[in-house]
Amino acid sequence: MKIIHAEPSDTQGLLYVHQQAFATAHDREKGMVISELVQGLLGDPTAEPLHSLIAVAQDKVVGHVLFTKVDINEEGSNIAAQILAPLAVLPDFHNMGIGRKMVMAGLDALRKSGTQLVFVLGHPEYYPRCGFSPAGICGFEAPYPIPEEHAAAWMVQELTPGVIGTVSGKIRCADTLHQPEHWRE
Ligand SMILES: CC(C)(COP(=O)(O)OP(=O)(O)OC[C@H]1O[C@@H](n2cnc3c(N)ncnc32)[C@H](O)[C@@H]1OP(=O)(O)O)[C@@H](O)C(=O)NCCC(=O)NCCS
Repeated sequence: MKIIHAEPSDTQGLLYVHQQAFATAHDREKGMVISELVQGLLGDPTAEPLHSLIAVAQDKVVGHVLFTKVDINEEGSNIAAQILAPLAVLPDFHNMGIGRKMVMAGLDALRKSGTQLVFVLGHPEYYPRCGFSPAGICGFEAPYPIPEEHAAAWMVQELTPGVIGTVSGKIRCADTLHQPEHWRE
C-alpha cells in the first residue's frame, strides 16, 4: 500500500471510494452526497490550496483524504489553516491502518507547506488518534452551530507549536463545504 498525492486521473477511483465507504444500510444516498461534495471541492477555487491524498493497494484507489483551505474570521488573522473533509477507506480495507496513515501523511504534507492549524468535524474517538483535540474550548467556532452533545466532534490540531491561543474566531470554509447540510449529522 502506498500513499500519494492524487492526480486528475485518480478522480473516478477516489469518488468511488466515498460512494462505497459512506453508503450505509440506513442511508444509501450518503455515498453519493459525499462523492458530489468531493467533486465540488476539487473544482472549487475557494478551496485552494488543497491537498488530496490517495491510498493505492492492488493497483486501485482504496482510500482518500482531502484537506481544503479555511479562513479564521478574525481581523488581522494571518494563520494558514485547513480542514480535513472527508476521509474514506473502501470497506474491504478497513481496520488496516490506512485511514490513519493517510491522515498522518496529509498532516506531514501540510506542515511542510506551512499550514499552521488543521480542523476536522468527525468521530471524536477516531481523530484524537491522529493528534486532534476539541476545538470549541480553544475558541474556534464551526461555520454552523454544532449541537452541545456533539461538541467533541469539532476538533483542531496545531502544526506550528504555540499557535493555539494566539488566534480564535469562526471558521469560513470553501464555498462548496460552507453549506449547512454538511454540518449536520
Ligand atoms: C473512518 C474510516 C476512514 C477509518 O478508516 P480505517 O482505515 O479503517 O481506519 P484505521 O485502520 O486507521 O483505524 C481503525 C481503528 O479506528 C476505529 N474506528 C473506525 N471508525 C471509527 C469511528 N467511526 N469511530 C471511532 N473509531 C473508529 C476502528 O475501530 C479501529 O480501531 P482499533 O485500531 O482499536 O481496532 C473508515 O472506517 C471509513 O471509511 N468509514 C466510512 C466513512 C467515514 O465515516 N469517514 C470519516 C468521516 S469523519
